[in-house]
Amino acid sequence: MSRSPFRDDVLAGQVALVTGGGTGIGIACARELANQGAQVVIASRKPANYEPAARGLSEELGRPVTGLALDIRDRDQVARAVDQVLESHGRLDILVNNGGGQFLSSAEHISPKGWDSVIATNLTGTWNLTRQVADRWMLAHGGSVVNVTMLTTRGFPGMAHSVSARAGVEALSRTLAVEWAPRGVRVNCVAPGIIASSGLRNYPAGLELGRQMQSTIPFKRLGTCEEVAWTVAFLAGPGAAYVTGQTLIVDGGRTLWGDGWPVPDPDELPEVTLPRQPWEPE
Ligand SMILES: NC(=O)c1ccc[n+]([C@@H]2O[C@H](COP(=O)([O-])OP(=O)(O)OC[C@H]3O[C@@H](n4cnc5c(N)ncnc54)[C@H](OP(=O)(O)O)[C@@H]3O)[C@@H](O)[C@H]2O)c1
Repeated sequence: MSRSPFRDDVLAGQVALVTGGGTGIGIACARELANQGAQVVIASRKPANYEPAARGLSEELGRPVTGLALDIRDRDQVARAVDQVLESHGRLDILVNNGGGQFLSSAEHISPKGWDSVIATNLTGTWNLTRQVADRWMLAHGGSVVNVTMLTTRGFPGMAHSVSARAGVEALSRTLAVEWAPRGVRVNCVAPGIIASSGLRNYPAGLELGRQMQSTIPFKRLGTCEEVAWTVAFLAGPGAAYVTGQTLIVDGGRTLWGDGWPVPDPDELPEVTLPRQPWEPE
C-alpha cells in the first residue's frame, strides 16, 4: 500500500459514499477519502464484502467507516440507502460510483439476460444512485460525483456490454456536468486501465492474464488500487474545483500506445501480487 500524496485534512467535514467500497479499488477509494478527512460510508450487496472492510478500515483509521447493504440496481433500496446516510451523517458531499462488474464474453455469446444485467448494474445502477443523491442532497447543497468506468475509447473486445454501459456513464457525466453546474455539482469519471485488484480474481486465470498484460502497457506494470483512488480523490476534492464532465484515464499509457513505437520489456517484468487487507485471510 503506497502513501497518499494528499494532505490529511483536504476533505475534513465532508461525507462520502463509495459503492463497491468493500473490495479492491473501492476499499482504496474509501481509505483515501477517509485519510483526507472525509467521513466515509461504503455500500455493496454482500455483507461478506462490506462488513469486514468497514470494520478493518475503522480499526486502521481510528474512526468509524460505516458499511451499508445496497444493490444499486434496486431503486427503492437506493432511495433508502441515501436517506440512511443523510439521517446518520447529516449531509452527502461526495459520491463515488465504483460498484460494478461484468463477465468476459465475445459479443456473439452474450445472452439477453447477461446484457441486461451488465447494463442494469453499470449504467442504470450509476444513474439510480446519482439521481437519488442529487435529488435528496446535491442539487440543493452542491457536491461531487466521481464515476469509475473503464477504457472506452478503443472499444473493449470481450466486454461489449460493459464498455457500452461505461461509455454511457461517461456521456451521462458530460451531460449532468452542464445541467448541474449552476447547482454546484461536479460530475467526472476515472477510467482505470488494468489494475492489480480483487476484480482480477473474477476472471478465469485473471492473475496470469494480468502478468501477460504488463507487456502491453508502456509503464510495464499493472496499476495499483491506490493509483486509481488518488485520481478519484483528486476529482472528488477541491483540487479539481474547476473540473467537470471529464474522464481521467489511469492506465500507464496503455490507451495511447500504438504499434509504431517499440517500448522494450525490461529484463524481468515485475511480480504481480494482488493486495490483501490486514483482515483478509491468506
Ligand atoms: N480492476 C481493473 O482492472 C478494472 C479496470 C477497469 C474498471 N474497473 C472497474 O472498477 C470498479 C471496481 O473494480 P475492482 O477491480 O475493485 O473489482 P471488484 O473487487 O470486483 O469490485 C466490484 C465491486 O462492486 C460491487 N458491486 C457489484 N455489483 C453491485 C451492485 N449491484 N450493487 C452494489 N455494489 C455492487 C461489489 O460488491 P458486492 O459483490 O458486495 O455487491 C464489489 O465490491 C468496477 O466497476 C470495475 O468494473 C476495474
